[in-house]
Amino acid sequence: MKPLILAIDTSCDETSIAITSGARVISNVIFSQTQLHKQFGGVYPIMAKAEHQSKIQPAISLALARARLKLQDITAVAVTYGPGLAPALEVGIQTTKQIATEFNKPLIPVDHIEGHIYSAFVQNSKGNPKRDIKYPFLALVVSGGHTELIMVASELSYKIIGEKLDDAAGEALDKAARMLGLGYPGGAVLEKIAMKGNIHAYKFPIPMQGTNSYDFSYSGIKTAMKRTLAITPPEEIPGQLPHLAASYQHAIMKSIEIKLEKALRYFAVKTVVLGGGVAHNKQLTQLFRKTVRAHDAIPFTPPFPYLCGDNAAMIGVVAGMKYAKNIVLYSKKEIESLDRTPRAHLNTWVL
Ligand code: KG4
Ligand code: ZN
Repeated sequence: MKPLILAIDTSCDETSIAITSGARVISNVIFSQTQLHKQFGGVYPIMAKAEHQSKIQPAISLALARARLKLQDITAVAVTYGPGLAPALEVGIQTTKQIATEFNKPLIPVDHIEGHIYSAFVQNSKGNPKRDIKYPFLALVVSGGHTELIMVASELSYKIIGEKLDDAAGEALDKAARMLGLGYPGGAVLEKIAMKGNIHAYKFPIPMQGTNSYDFSYSGIKTAMKRTLAITPPEEIPGQLPHLAASYQHAIMKSIEIKLEKALRYFAVKTVVLGGGVAHNKQLTQLFRKTVRAHDAIPFTPPFPYLCGDNAAMIGVVAGMKYAKNIVLYSKKEIESLDRTPRAHLNTWVL
């Protein structure tokens, strides 16, 4: 039996606790705050913190009960230290420190993006699916907070080759959905409505299409949607919703396809993984698979839907790899000095 990890992710608006062993998830609990933040049209940091504080102990108890384990049985504790919302991250870090100190366990800090990168290789409690991780591989992470292309040279060794310059893709989908009166978070609703629309009905600019970099930028397209809505007679908007949604979503997905395809032309990788909340989107997964296969590489997406969004299971699985390499905090002093890093930037190139 591989070491048992208790992992915590409170990076945004989900309180998630998992018990993992190697790549296997023994239990995973997610208490979502989406309903709470809906009224504000976005995550309200102070409320997120209070909610994490009230839910974290029940979530830990539930994860342990489902795994039929006690805190004493755990080998090490792991926590997301960043990137994310500072007040939210703080709750997970404080709780992890308390457990590590009280039960004398090593603490493993994990970057949230590392979790999304490896989410395609997370297994259920029976060890399925069995996917070999072959290095180097390319990772595409598309979420509400991030849009990144990352080269993974070897285990836990990363180089960001492209990233968001302003808004993330998920954020741009959410903001347009809000402008269209579809509520928050709107990515999934926008996708549904877009299915009935014509992608060519509106000409939204394809972000960063002509640039040489692998970076992403979505604040311009958001402004284009604002302008389009301003010049559209209000009575016409309801009838145009599917076309607006389809054209807008298409431009965003196309920009991702262009950068992915560019990276695949330059980097000769055999494996490409997709992660992050926007990986729920069918248009994205389809273009991802098609583009990757066209370059004779194998596409991997998170094997279970819960692994696309924020979850502690992916954090636990990465922590298991770190434990095996002894990348852990042992001493009281080291554990105490761990701090939240809201703008953590994953760039640890170890060859
Ligand atoms: O990874 P995630 O749960 O949280 C962050 O780390 O940001 O991603 C949330 C994002 C939101 O922007 C949400 O609108 C988007 O994922 N999302 C989708 C879909 N489901 C969730 N975007 C497009 N289509 C979907 N079906
Ligand atoms: Zn995330």
